[in-house]
Amino acid sequence: MTVAMRGDGPPSGIGGDALVVTAYSDELGTAAAVLDLAMDGELAAMVGSGELRGRFAEVTVLPAPPGISARRVVVLGLGDRDVLDNFRLHNAYTFAGRALRRRRLTRVVLAADASLCGPAVPDMAALCRAMVTGMLIANHEAGMHKSNPDAAPLIEEVTVAGVDGEGDSSLDEALSDAMLLADSTLRVMRWVSAPANTLTPTLLAAEVTELCAGTSLGVEVMDRAALESAGAGALLGIASGSAEPPVMIIVRHRGGSDADPTLALVGKGITFDTGGTSIKPALGMEMMKSDMGGGAAVLAAMFAIAALNVPCNVLAVVPATENMPGGRALKPGDVVRALDGTTIEVVNTDAEGRVVLADGLSLARRLGASHIVDVATLTGAAVVALGHVNAPLMSSDRALTDLVLRAAGQGGDRLAEFPMHPEYDSCLRSDVADVRNWGGREAAAISGAIFVRAFSGGLPWVHLDIAGTSWNEQANLREVPRGPSGAPVRTLVWLARLFARG
Ligand code: BES
Ligand code: MN
Ligand code: ZN
Repeated sequence: MTVAMRGDGPPSGIGGDALVVTAYSDELGTAAAVLDLAMDGELAAMVGSGELRGRFAEVTVLPAPPGISARRVVVLGLGDRDVLDNFRLHNAYTFAGRALRRRRLTRVVLAADASLCGPAVPDMAALCRAMVTGMLIANHEAGMHKSNPDAAPLIEEVTVAGVDGEGDSSLDEALSDAMLLADSTLRVMRWVSAPANTLTPTLLAAEVTELCAGTSLGVEVMDRAALESAGAGALLGIASGSAEPPVMIIVRHRGGSDADPTLALVGKGITFDTGGTSIKPALGMEMMKSDMGGGAAVLAAMFAIAALNVPCNVLAVVPATENMPGGRALKPGDVVRALDGTTIEVVNTDAEGRVVLADGLSLARRLGASHIVDVATLTGAAVVALGHVNAPLMSSDRALTDLVLRAAGQGGDRLAEFPMHPEYDSCLRSDVADVRNWGGREAAAISGAIFVRAFSGGLPWVHLDIAGTSWNEQANLREVPRGPSGAPVRTLVWLARLFARG
């Protein structure tokens, strides 16, 4: 896979399978309008006749006219101008990449059209990053385990053209960023879609350990014995119904000095969630192989953070286990003791994510965290509230929230702040232990967050509930690519960069 920038001429002179230009609703983009001059106004005529509508993710493929070096002209619809944000821009190029792969057009030239810049995509660097990242993550392959793969060929070459500014280092940087961010996103997509029997906690830890070798990252995997001596009773409790041993995966990036703050990223690593004793219905349960999406994002972000040499300290902690209903499984009403000593009444074993996060956050604090961001496919309620198009953010700290929201804007992820009014705290009340793990169906995304916050030790803390955004399985939702999204890994990489700036 190669990605190149050409600053030295118009897109018409660059060879490849497809030259991609854009249209808004019923209106050609600037690069498309320029190209149309060489096409005797055919594109404008197609807009006029309604054949080319410029609707979001609409892909129109035409033979290239003489004088254009690429074989095909592709017009990518971006929909309404005023609702185009960084999330939609990434997604549009992912749809384009999927359509081009199906047509075997794998050497792609992207026209970087300055008219696409606006509030959400402020400059050419941001535009190039979104286009290239979106295009590259179209290479995610769903059918990895087919004996006779009918897979479309991969996008193998991406050239960004039509930007004046040859040698512009900010654009070179944007492209190398895009490749790193796409790699991280693809890794999360792969992990999240891996069948649970091919990605157990042990196998995930082994892969992370292998990936860390040869990088500046430090890695430690706590096994069952280490978890027992640390007193990680919450993670061990959830793991007790499974034959697969749990692990706590710890990855460290030391980009700052010991005196500098440490950003802890804690991710839910449930490699399969049956619900445990509080077992889930069979229909759709296979989706629960994706219940380690938070852990996957946190871990994949670390490789990009290390590669970028981000000058701050970042600590990733991922409590990983299956949630199974085996003979030793927790039963509703059982009490476990978390690593920080807090006792938890487990009234519903299907609210397992917050229980393992209790040990994750406790350990992050013990390891010197000064700020905590946790990421988890935590609640069905988050999906009910926001679907697959946005994710709830809940927090105890304004400044850290603002940093995360800015990072999400850069990464092309969407986050929406949910309230944490004190009245919600009652969901924690237990008659027999310090806290209970389930406070009923009402405001359940918020009560999940309230529970996790109880283990943040008063540190600045942000919680991202990505149960909806980590995977789009809604067939009717045509404006978001189907399958795993990799979210919010790019946000986490940007967060480290913004955190490093202080
Ligand atoms: N992993 C699920 C949440 C989830 C739902 C993730 C849909 C992705 C898609 C979580 O562990 C869970 O089971 N939550 C339940 C808890 C409840 C039944 C106690 C929920 O929120 O419905
Ligand atoms: Mn569950
Ligand atoms: Zn779960």
